Amino acid sequence: MEEDGVAVRMILIAMTLASLMNVQGAPATAIVNRLPGFNGTFPSKHYSGYIRLDGSTPAKNLFYYFVESERNPMKDPVVLWLNGGPGCSSFDGFVYEHGPFNFEAGNAKNSLPILHLNPFSWSKVSNIIYLDSPTGVGLSYSENQTNYQTGDTQTAIDAHNFLLKWFEEYSEFSQNPFYIAGESYAGIYVPTLATEVVKGLKAKVHPTINFKGYMVGNGVTAERKYDGNALVPFAHGMGLISDELYNAITGLNIYDILEPCYHKPTSEHVRNSSLPDSFKKLGQTERPLPVRKRIFGRAWPYQMVVEDGPVPSWPQLDSIANDRRVSVPCTNDEIASAWLNDESVREAIHAQPESVIGAWSLCMSLEYHHDAGSMINYHKNLTNQGFRALIYSGDHDMCVPFTGTQAWTSSLGYQILDEWRPWMSNDQIAGYVRGFEHNLTFVTIKGAGHTVPEYKPREALDFYSRWLEGKPI
Ligand SMILES: *[C@@H]1O[C@H](CO)[C@@H](O)[C@H](O)[C@H]1NC(C)=O
Ligand SMILES: *[C@@H]1O[C@H](CO)[C@@H](O)[C@H](O)[C@H]1NC(C)=O
Ligand SMILES: *[C@@H]1O[C@H](CO)[C@@H](O)[C@H](O)[C@H]1NC(C)=O
Ligand SMILES: *[C@@H]1O[C@H](CO)[C@@H](O)[C@H](O)[C@H]1NC(C)=O
Ligand SMILES: *[C@@H]1O[C@H](CO)[C@@H](O)[C@H](O)[C@H]1NC(C)=O
Repeated sequence: MEEDGVAVRMILIAMTLASLMNVQGAPATAIVNRLPGFNGTFPSKHYSGYIRLDGSTPAKNLFYYFVESERNPMKDPVVLWLNGGPGCSSFDGFVYEHGPFNFEAGNAKNSLPILHLNPFSWSKVSNIIYLDSPTGVGLSYSENQTNYQTGDTQTAIDAHNFLLKWFEEYSEFSQNPFYIAGESYAGIYVPTLATEVVKGLKAKVHPTINFKGYMVGNGVTAERKYDGNALVPFAHGMGLISDELYNAITGLNIYDILEPCYHKPTSEHVRNSSLPDSFKKLGQTERPLPVRKRIFGRAWPYQMVVEDGPVPSWPQLDSIANDRRVSVPCTNDEIASAWLNDESVREAIHAQPESVIGAWSLCMSLEYHHDAGSMINYHKNLTNQGFRALIYSGDHDMCVPFTGTQAWTSSLGYQILDEWRPWMSNDQIAGYVRGFEHNLTFVTIKGAGHTVPEYKPREALDFYSRWLEGKPI
C-alpha cells in the first residue's frame, strides 16, 4: 500500500510537471514504443509517422523519424537531416551514419537485423528529424505518382511546408535553435530549403522557425568548376597519380578510395585494392560493425556534374535496374532493406505497409529536375544574413572530393579568421579546419569517405557537437 501511495504521488507530480512544461505537443500516435530487433530501453523518446501536405491533390505524405536528444531535449537544437541522391532515403543516415542504433546483420540473409545503441549517435547532443524527401523517396509517398515529378524548387517548398506543420505538431520544440543538415545532393537540398525558411521568416509565416544555420557534408554545388574539376587535383593530391594507379581510378570505389567497391554478389567480383597499407590504416573506424564497402551520392562514377534540367535517374544510368528501386554501384543497403521491409518494423514506426507503398529501397528513381542553379549565391546570401554554416568533407571521398569544396569556400572571398589548422578528436589529429568570417567553417575529416559519420563516428560526433555549441572545432 505504501508503495502504491508513492506511485500515485509520482504520477501526480509527473502530470503536473508535464502540464507546466507544456509537453503535450508531440502527437501521442507518433510515439515509437519498441523497435523489432532492439531489446532494451530507448535512451530518449522516438516519434515517427507522416506529415500530410494537402497543398497538392492528392496529398503528399512525407515520412519522418524523430529522435529526441538524449541530453536535454528541451534545450538542445533540433536538426533536420537529409540524405541526397536525389531520390535517396534519409534512413541512410539513420541506419548507417549517425542514428541512435548500430545495425548488426541478422543471422540469416534478409532476417531482422539486431540493433545496438550507437555511442556516437547525433541524438547524444541534438534532437534530430530524419526526413524522407521529396515525396516518392524512402517511405514518403503520394497516391498519385505524378507527384514524383519534381525538382529542387518544389522539393524545398514541400520540405518547408513539412517543417511548418511539424513545428505546429511539436510546438514544444519551436523555441529550440533549428539547423538543417545533409550530405551529397543535399548540398542542394540544404541551401535551397534554408533559403525557403528564411523567406518564410521574412513573410512572418507561422509558426516561427528559430532557424540558426546549416551543415553540408561532401555536398555538391551544381557548379562544374567545383564539382567537376575537383577530381583530378584530388587524385594528384592523394598520391594516386602514378600511371598505373591513375589508370586504375575508374576501378576504385569513388565513395571511399580506401574501400573496395561493393557489387551485388551476382555481379562482378570485388576487386583487390592496390592501395598501400599505410593508406588503408587511415580508413580504420571505431564503428564496431562492418562498414559498408560502398557509399553513394550523385552519379559521379559516370562523371555526371549536376546541371540545369533533368537529373538522370539511376535506372537511366544503370541499365540493370528496371523498376523504381535502384541498385547503386558500390553500395550495399541489405541491412536497411531487411529492416525497413519487415512488416513489424513498418508497423512499429507507423509507416504504410509494403502492400500500399511498395518496398523501401535506399534510392528510388524520380523524375527530378535540377532547377535551382549554382549553390554559391545561396551560400553567400545565407551566410551574409547571419546564418551559420558548417561545410565538412570526408577527405577520402572521390564522389564529391574536398578539393572542390575547399575551392568554393575560399572563392567567396571571406576573410580567414582561423587559418588552416588541425583539429583533434580522441587526442589524434582528426582533420583540418578553416574558419571564415560570417560564421562559415570548412572542416575536413581525415580518412573518411563520402558519408563521414559512417566511417568516423567519434570524430563526426565531436565536430558536430562542438559546432552546434558554437565552440571552436
Ligand atoms: C532480451 O533481453 C532479455 C533480458 O535482458 C534477455 O533475457 C533476452 O534473452 C534478450 N533477447 C534477445 C533476443 O536478445
Ligand atoms: C494524377 O494527377 C494528375 C495531375 O494532377 C492527373 O492528371 C491524373 O489524372 C491523376 N491520376 C490519378 C490516378 O489520380
Ligand atoms: C586478392 O589478392 C589476394 C592476394 O594476392 C588473392 O589471394 C585473392 O584471390 C585476390 N582476390 C580477388 C577477388 O581477386
Ligand atoms: C541573393 O541575394 C541577392 C541580393 O539580395 C538576390 O538578388 C539574389 O536573388 C539572391 N540569390 C539567392 C540564390 O538567394
Ligand atoms: C556567429 O555565430 C555566433 C554564435 O551563434 C553569433 O553570436 C555571432 O553573432 C555570429 N557572427 C556573425 C558575424 O554572424
